[in-house]
Amino acid sequence: MNILILGSGGRESAFAWKVAQSAHCDKLFIAPGNAGTTQYGTNVNIKVTDFEGIKALVLKEDINLVLVGPEEPLVKGVHDFFLADEQLKNIPVVGPQQEGAQLEGSKDFSKQFMERHNIPTAAYRTFTKDTLQDGLTYLATAGLPVVLKADGLAAGKGVLICLSLEEAQTELTAMLADAKFGEASSRVVVEQFLTGIELSVFVMTDGNSYKILPEAKDYKRIGEGDTGLNTGGMGSISPVPFADAAYMKKVEERVIIPTIEGLKKDGILYKGFIFIGLMNSNGEPWVIEYNCRMGDPETESVMRRIDSDFVDLLLGVAEGNLNEKEIIISPKTAATVVMVAGGYPGEYLKNKVITGTENVRDSIVFHAGTSMDGNDVITTGGRVLAITTVQDDMFSALQQATADASRIYYDGMYFRKDIGFDLL
Ligand code: AMP
Ligand code: GLY
Repeated sequence: MNILILGSGGRESAFAWKVAQSAHCDKLFIAPGNAGTTQYGTNVNIKVTDFEGIKALVLKEDINLVLVGPEEPLVKGVHDFFLADEQLKNIPVVGPQQEGAQLEGSKDFSKQFMERHNIPTAAYRTFTKDTLQDGLTYLATAGLPVVLKADGLAAGKGVLICLSLEEAQTELTAMLADAKFGEASSRVVVEQFLTGIELSVFVMTDGNSYKILPEAKDYKRIGEGDTGLNTGGMGSISPVPFADAAYMKKVEERVIIPTIEGLKKDGILYKGFIFIGLMNSNGEPWVIEYNCRMGDPETESVMRRIDSDFVDLLLGVAEGNLNEKEIIISPKTAATVVMVAGGYPGEYLKNKVITGTENVRDSIVFHAGTSMDGNDVITTGGRVLAITTVQDDMFSALQQATADASRIYYDGMYFRKDIGFDLL
């Protein structure tokens, strides 16, 4: 069969690497892809939100399955677009329809969903421009720190953790009255701050049954020791030692099953991935957020621990027989180190030539923000490469990924050398 992956980051590179190995895969296309995805398939320069362009490609190349990487096309309704089109409606899309994608697309929707289905999450209230005064009063009674979340997608910037009441009131006003995040902050969720260690849990569902993929931990801050500004993610490891069988049983019983059942009760047919961002507080899982897609850079580590045919699992989602499929997970440890551009996550350097990838010894170099410039591979994004290795134990995996990252060079390159430091 012919398969199309939508997206261009490290996550989609890892998907492409895994999908290309499947016995089911004849031709693989990636739209738009990056300089690295051409190793696994054919790049087509179409934006992930250009639904008409995607349609033309799907019909021209006789695509039989579409795997959606990022949230934006899902929240904008790419799956609904397929179902509403006579020529596309029988071509399966892995990724929820717009209604289900609201789990990520609207923080207020996801909080109401969790409340309705008794899924553990931080206490919250939602405010709009009309109820700003109530919001300011509520903040005065809420504990500190307090978390403000723009309701809609805000390119990963819509969550603010405020340490003082003054800061919280200023920010709530900026979000609601001055549209700090545009339409995304026309509603704001104000939520209790949770302490603990974060964990990314991934579930695949066909709308009825589900499979739990390997869990991972993501390192979001730019600086070593988890300091400095937030980024898209600087590295990941899988498995995560504290997420042992007893912990994952709690997650399954208290979060995963109520989520899958809740979607069914609400009449939402959900076919795709659910990424559950958890806070582990003293051994208890609390949901911080849902995403309607896989995580990046978690996917790079997760794909390397799935030993079964990934396309077979995708077909289970598409055809509604996921319960008949087997998922084989490697007991080894995968570690990913993300190499970023100088200046990231602020203004960052671009168009720098990347050298040394041929010197990498025992990792896969997944590309993210890269393009071709003649025969050179150059940097074009903030997150440039994701270096992923699999080793018998966590220490060796972290060492190998870091050593391999240091074999690569471009002007201004930076990566954290302490991924996993808190877990060893
Ligand atoms: P999100 O955009 O929802 O992924 O939130 C970004 C980050 O903010 C999360 O990964 C957490 O690190 C942090 N965060 C969000 N909500 C909370 C909360 N209730 N308590 C503590 N940290 C939070
Ligand atoms: N790694 C976090 C995310 O993909 O949102």
